[in-house]
Amino acid sequence: MKFGYFDDQNREYVITQPETPLPWINYLGCQAYFGIISNTAGGYSFYRDARLRRLTRYRYNNVPLDFGGRYIYLRDDESKEFWSPSWQPTRHDLENYSCRHGMGYTVIGSTYSGIEAHTRYFVPLDENLEIWQLTVTNRRAVKAQISAFASIEFCLWDAQDDATNFQRNFNTGEVEVEDGVIYHKTEYRERRDHFAYFACSEPGAGYDTQREAFLGRNRGWDKPATVEAGQLTNSVAHGWSPIGAHQVKLELAPGETRQVVFVLGYHENPRDQKFDPPGSQTINKKLVKPVIAKYLDAKEADAAFERLRLYWDSLLGIFQVNTPDIHTNRMVNIWNAYQCMATFNMSRSASFYESGIGRGLGFRDSNQDLLGFVHMVPSRARERILDLAATQLATGGAYHQYQPLTKRGNNDIGGGFNDDPHWLIVGVSAYLKETGDWSILDEPVPYDNEPGSEAPLYDHLQRSFRYSLERMGPHGLPLIGRADWNDCLNLNCFSDTPGQSFQTTTNKEGKVAESVFIAGLFVHAGRELAAIATHRGLSGAAASCLAEVAKMEEAIRRHGWDGEWFLRAYDDFGAKIGSKECEEGKIFIESNGFCVLAGIGLEDGKAAKAMDSVGKHLATKHGIVLQQPAYSKYYLNLGEISSYPPGYKENAGIFCHVNPWVMIGETRLGHGDAAHDYYSRINPSAREEIGDLHRCEPYVYAQMIAGKDAPSFGEAKNSWLTGTAAWNYYAIVQWILGIRTSLDGLEIAPVIPNNWPGFTATRIFRGVVYKISIERKGDGNHIALTVDGAPIDGNIVATPTDGRKEITVKGILSEGPGEPLPADEEEQFVPAK
Ligand code: BGC
Ligand code: NOJ
Repeated sequence: MKFGYFDDQNREYVITQPETPLPWINYLGCQAYFGIISNTAGGYSFYRDARLRRLTRYRYNNVPLDFGGRYIYLRDDESKEFWSPSWQPTRHDLENYSCRHGMGYTVIGSTYSGIEAHTRYFVPLDENLEIWQLTVTNRRAVKAQISAFASIEFCLWDAQDDATNFQRNFNTGEVEVEDGVIYHKTEYRERRDHFAYFACSEPGAGYDTQREAFLGRNRGWDKPATVEAGQLTNSVAHGWSPIGAHQVKLELAPGETRQVVFVLGYHENPRDQKFDPPGSQTINKKLVKPVIAKYLDAKEADAAFERLRLYWDSLLGIFQVNTPDIHTNRMVNIWNAYQCMATFNMSRSASFYESGIGRGLGFRDSNQDLLGFVHMVPSRARERILDLAATQLATGGAYHQYQPLTKRGNNDIGGGFNDDPHWLIVGVSAYLKETGDWSILDEPVPYDNEPGSEAPLYDHLQRSFRYSLERMGPHGLPLIGRADWNDCLNLNCFSDTPGQSFQTTTNKEGKVAESVFIAGLFVHAGRELAAIATHRGLSGAAASCLAEVAKMEEAIRRHGWDGEWFLRAYDDFGAKIGSKECEEGKIFIESNGFCVLAGIGLEDGKAAKAMDSVGKHLATKHGIVLQQPAYSKYYLNLGEISSYPPGYKENAGIFCHVNPWVMIGETRLGHGDAAHDYYSRINPSAREEIGDLHRCEPYVYAQMIAGKDAPSFGEAKNSWLTGTAAWNYYAIVQWILGIRTSLDGLEIAPVIPNNWPGFTATRIFRGVVYKISIERKGDGNHIALTVDGAPIDGNIVATPTDGRKEITVKGILSEGPGEPLPADEEEQFVPAK
């Protein structure tokens, strides 16, 4: 069952009924000011940090799940009936309800009793504010007298504190209302130099800033007393719960349309210019007023919207593809790229499943997110890399997370996740391959933000690599520490006390438990580092790095291979995890996917065997599960993984983040059919038809789909903020379509399904437009390339040095030189499904 449809032309997903199985959301803003918005206008906004600078309140895990947001009410002032065009919070039966989620904007609207209304919500580029453009049309044969109300709940302080410390917070609320603009200035009198505001383009018929005055005593948002009565009360909040509500009266002739613009924003004043007049307690509004005035003008708002559209044109234009598969096309060209922007911005901090309170930006997560983002805005990737590296510890280890506002490592969780440092190498390598900007390696970057400790970024990479060398276990494999990629495989934790954090409890010495996954990552990162060293002319460093890689490969061959697949780990007793000898958890996806991705076992058949075993034991129709058999009970020596009932999350769920490792592994074996088949099983667009089972948004990936051991096999959870976005993008673009960045140029090495006659793509790479067409003339993955008509050796297209800004690259796929071409060269292009 579907709840809407893709409008690929407009790059929108159109939801046609408000009651989706879960809130289907979108992100507003892509730089510093962000909002989350659901298909019924639920959600909240924040500046940079969803915990420390949240502008509006949101109650997570509410009943119903999504409640509280950017609510607009319309009231027929003659019949006195009122409703919300976004369905929530009044939940009337609406006609023609639709929610169009697009690139950085959402339009929600409907018709009710002859009044058509829709609101376009978006954040203009380079501004710390959001615009709501409400358009109301009278479709009746007679004139209509309508009141429009817009409302939000302020919360511009620590959102954690907001949910816990109301004995204080009920006494701090303050607002100012000037020229019809509501300014929320709680705590501005003391240490804050920032405030929020909510403004309206039309002369107001009233406002409210105290929640109880607006809602009425003991009422909720579904039935505010003022909206019911048709008149706001001009309340001025002092203490309690400041809100912003505006009322506008619209008299509409038959067929007439009116637009009202609301602006909600965040502003920071220079510390020494907080008040006007100086010495008073009144906000200095000199700097913010022109900004507010500008965007209340509908023409300016439209122009800002147009700029946003062009921005996304240019971002998405960097890579566009046309394959025979519509689901591949729309995910690669639109939604997957868009989700990569969200994961880059948010890491795992704020979605409808991450509260924005608990987690900052993850070290490993943010580095991996670069794989899907770096081509879009390389300058922001560069900044992120330097921020991440500055939280690295002098030992080479890393804080597991940092807060985006302070850019400081997060002490609550600390470090000791022994895979973390290697991801920095992966992230930097992706940046170098995309940009060729070698200067980044010479940037001085401190350790743990300690002034005086600065060393070139290249030094950070070396320490990352050495970190594992200095932490080797009994089998010559890297010690796992608190956890590796799998946060829930906690081999040094042994927690028997409810409520203890699996991620931070460590009561074993940690000298025994080893990770085959980190070993694979070490090999991969080590090769990347060696290639970087070679490019810098450091052949000695490259050679010693490769020597360590070779030793690690040998250790994996001797102690990390189980006969049919790669082992997962050794626990604190030195016992195998992920082995045929185990009763449960005999085979895991991570070590198998990553070792093959890293090229381990390609020559001696281990890679092929490992992928076969994954196919045999882990693959399901909804994706590849994390391990099998699922853990049926809690194991003290394994930790959180065995805390989940079978089939969920890390306990044999389909963890979509790691599926692409297997896709890439299959491409390394030349198996285009298998790779694309795995890709399609978890592609959300391809799952749109089973929306009532899948339940999450069909336009973005979810972290997990319930595995075959769960009663809800096939049901997705935790959409949006997941490494799944970057890895799927990277797998399909760079390994299946094979348009791959390398240190030397753009590599073209497609491993596509056998029945694809080819595809075309446009890639803007290092300032040059590559017009690429690939044609299949035989089975197999051998490629012969011509550039602007001239054949080239090998499959790396060097960046032109003669000033050409556009080049045409043609590739012919076949079984290889010497193989006969198939008789029928005129194969049919398989039409999009
Ligand atoms: C989740 C993991 C997550 C970890 C860290 C666990 O409860 O299952 O997916 O990585 O928490 O927050
Ligand atoms: C989500 C976390 O954000 C990520 O860092 C981790 O690798 C996966 N869960 C698997 O546990």
